[in-house]
Amino acid sequence: MVNESKTILITGGAGFIGSHVVRLFVTKYPQYRIVNGDALTYAGNLGNLKDIESAPNYVFEKADIIDGPRIQELFVRYKFDAVIHLAAESHVDRSIMDPLAFVRTNVLGTANLLHIAGNAWKGNYTGKLFYHVSTDEVYGSLGDTGFFTEETPYDPRSPYSASKASSDHFVMAWHHTYGLPVILSNCSNNYGSNHFPEKLIPLMINNILNNKPLPVYGKGDNVRDWLFVDDHARAIDTIFHKGRVGEKYNIGGFNEWKNIDIVNLLCSVMDKKLGRSPGESAKLITYVTDRPGHDHRYAIDATKLNKELGWKPSLQFEEGLERTVDWYLGHQDWVKQVTSGDYRKYYDEQYHKR
Ligand code: NAD
Ligand code: TYD
Repeated sequence: MVNESKTILITGGAGFIGSHVVRLFVTKYPQYRIVNGDALTYAGNLGNLKDIESAPNYVFEKADIIDGPRIQELFVRYKFDAVIHLAAESHVDRSIMDPLAFVRTNVLGTANLLHIAGNAWKGNYTGKLFYHVSTDEVYGSLGDTGFFTEETPYDPRSPYSASKASSDHFVMAWHHTYGLPVILSNCSNNYGSNHFPEKLIPLMINNILNNKPLPVYGKGDNVRDWLFVDDHARAIDTIFHKGRVGEKYNIGGFNEWKNIDIVNLLCSVMDKKLGRSPGESAKLITYVTDRPGHDHRYAIDATKLNKELGWKPSLQFEEGLERTVDWYLGHQDWVKQVTSGDYRKYYDEQYHKR
C-alpha cells in the first residue's frame, strides 16, 4: 500500500542508479523513511544527493553490505520493512582486473543481506520485501537476432556477470527455501547524469571534451540496449509497488545501438555544443584491443513488465543523450572530483596497455 508509512533500506544509494532511485523515493513518497546504506567505494558519491540530503525522510548510513554486525545493527535500529538492493561492484573491465572484489560484494554481500533480512523478518513476512536489482548481463551474449526474456537460461561470461548471476540465484534460493518475499529485476545498460566516467557514454563525453583518444574496443560492433536512468528508477518504483512476489521482471529500452554508432552520435552532438566543425571530435576515435570475453549483443524483451505492470520507457535515446551531454558540460566540478586520484591510476592500467 503506497499510503502506508514504511522504512526502506536502499543499498548502493550513493552510486549512479541508486542515487536516482533514492531521489525518486524520497521526493515521491514523503510517508516513507529512506535509509541509504552505502560503503562509499570509488563509485559512491554523496554529492549525487546534495539536493535531497536534508529531506526529513532521508538518512545516510555508511555501511559495507559484507559487514554482518553493522548491517544487523541497522536492521535492529530501523526495523526495515523492505530492502531495495543496488550496492554492487558494477564495471566489467574492473571485474577482469580484480574478480574477487566482485565475489566479495556481489555474492557474499548479497548473501549476507539476505541472511540478515531473513532472520530479522522470520515468523512474520507480512508487508516485507527484498527487491534485488540485477542486470541483463546474467543471460550471456546474443547473436545478431533474438531477445532475452525472463525464461532465458543464465549464461554469464564475465566475472561481473557471473557474480550478479550468482547473487540472483541466492535471492531465489532464499525465496524457495525460507519463503523470503523477494522480487528481482534485470535491466539493460543505463545512461544519464551521475554516471561514473569509467563506463562507455560518460567516458566518451569526458574524453571528447578534453580532446583525448576515444578508445573503442575491437571493431565497435558490439550492441547494447540503452535505457535512461530515470526510466530504470521508475521501473523499480513500479515493480516495488505492483510486482508479484517471487517473480522476476526484465527492464529494457527497446533501444539497441552499436558502440561505434553511439560514439559517432556523441561526437556530432558535442561538435555542435562545443562549436567545433563537423567531424572534428570523430577524429579522436581510436580502435583498441578488444575486451577479453566481450559479449557481442544484449537485447531485452520487456514485454512482461509492460503487459503486467504498464511500464514503458519515456524518453527517446537522442533526447536522453543530449540531456546527458548537457548535464556533464554543466557539472564539470563533479567530473573533476570523481576523476581525480584513483581514477587516473585505473585509466592508465586499463587503457595504456591496449
Ligand atoms: P555504481 O557502481 O555506480 O554504484 C554502486 C554503489 O554501491 C556505489 O555507491 C558504491 O559505493 C556502493 N557499494 C559498492 N560496494 C559496496 C559494499 N560492499 N557495501 C555497500 N555499498 C557498496 O553502480 P550502478 O551502475 O549504479 O549499479 C547499481 C546496481 O544496478 C548494481 O547492482 C548493478 O549491477 C545494477 N545494474 C546496473 C546497470 C548499469 O547500466 N549501470 C544496469 C543494470 C543493472
Ligand atoms: P560499459 O559501459 O562498460 O558497459 P557493459 O560492458 O556493462 O555493457 O561498455 C558498454 C560497451 O562499450 C561494451 O560493449 C564495451 C564498450 N566500451 C568501449 O568500446 N570502450 C570503452 O572505453 C568502454 C568503457 C566500453
